[in-house]
Amino acid sequence: MKMRAAVLEEFGAPLVVQEVELAEPQAGEALVRLVACGVCHTDLYTASGVDPSGYAPTVLGHEGAGVVEAVGPDVTLVAPGDHVVTLFSPQCGECIHCRSDKTNLCLAIREQQNKGYLPDGTTRLSRAGEPIRHFMGTSTFAEYAVLPQIALAKVSPEAPLDRACLFACGLTTGLGAAMNTAQVEPGSTCVVFGAGMVGLGAVAGCRLQGAERIVCVDLSEERLALARGQGATETLTGGEDVVERILELTDGFGADYTFEATGNVKVMRQAVESARMGWGLCTVAGVAGKGETLDIVPRYLITGRRVCGSSFGGAKGRDQVPQLVDRYLAGDIDVDAFISHRIALDEINTGFELMKAQDGIRSVVEF
Ligand SMILES: NC(=O)c1ccc[n+]([C@@H]2O[C@H](COP(=O)([O-])OP(=O)(O)OC[C@H]3O[C@@H](n4cnc5c(N)ncnc54)[C@H](O)[C@@H]3O)[C@@H](O)[C@H]2O)c1
Ligand SMILES: [Zn+2]
Ligand SMILES: [Zn+2]
Repeated sequence: MKMRAAVLEEFGAPLVVQEVELAEPQAGEALVRLVACGVCHTDLYTASGVDPSGYAPTVLGHEGAGVVEAVGPDVTLVAPGDHVVTLFSPQCGECIHCRSDKTNLCLAIREQQNKGYLPDGTTRLSRAGEPIRHFMGTSTFAEYAVLPQIALAKVSPEAPLDRACLFACGLTTGLGAAMNTAQVEPGSTCVVFGAGMVGLGAVAGCRLQGAERIVCVDLSEERLALARGQGATETLTGGEDVVERILELTDGFGADYTFEATGNVKVMRQAVESARMGWGLCTVAGVAGKGETLDIVPRYLITGRRVCGSSFGGAKGRDQVPQLVDRYLAGDIDVDAFISHRIALDEINTGFELMKAQDGIRSVVEF
């Protein structure tokens, strides 16, 4: 079939919205009609050419939600009519990682996905007979997408898909960092560095876990106001002396849980140093620039602090994204507050400009 999609033709240049071909779903795959898709930093990162593993041409987009239109042979997990959220982090349910409750990093299709192919090593996207590679196994800046069934989370049909799409990346990453990776305990003190989509999600996750104090640190007063709306009990403007200020707020000890959601390695260090002696856990969700390293004075570790990383909030997508969407429907998560702009596919480059200018938290493309 023919459809419209936003193609990254050349790094550093605007995406070009144009007609491309999408082939039918093969064994184990489904055709999804996209209804909405969030614009995330990772799309911009790849488009800019800074991502060393990036390639072009490709159809970007990975924060999608839509409706299953058709399925290929041997598909058992979804059916036409199902409402789905796309998963750049799939869940096969069978690999050694999927069978462990210690990780969400499914191994089933990683290699082909990283190279831009569907699991059988080919693409469904093309233009004038030339294959176009998929992006993050999703390519959701398009009217339709073909995905492996293990990369689709079936969500409640009651959830508006223009909100549900945020659970495909940023929101689940933040919520899950607090709920799955750190498993924040009720009554604890938390500090979240960064109040973008991921940090705000972590603030909400700490609140849902019953944290008593949630301190959010950012440079933008506007974003700190959003953090208070998500449950932050205190807010601080970031800077060189922020660790000292956090220690002052916590009787000199630091927080039970800290979260880093800025991608800045200096802030990661502050997050480690703000964690409490004895048991403080620092969860890093930000993605650092290529070649950057995180500096930790080992004494911080010897004296009982721990550091861990979190990809997609440690969430096993097919199991947990539907649960989080249900919590949104139950009124526990305020998704509307994150959506700052609604744009058409043709305005996709405006979505990138807004993100570069830190104007709003999320632009959502509506198809
Ligand atoms: N781990 C994952 O699976 C995953 C998924 C999505 C995004 N990410 C990463 O998470 C990070 C955050 O993503 P986002 O979409 O929320 O980004 P964002 O740019 O919207 O938010 C980052 C926030 O950090 C703040 N900040 C910058 N410097 C600071 C400082 N010195 N002190 C305090 N705050 C500071 C900014 O003001 C901004 O509000 C990025 O690095 C992104 O690549 C990771
Ligand atoms: Zn993303
Ligand atoms: Zn797996």
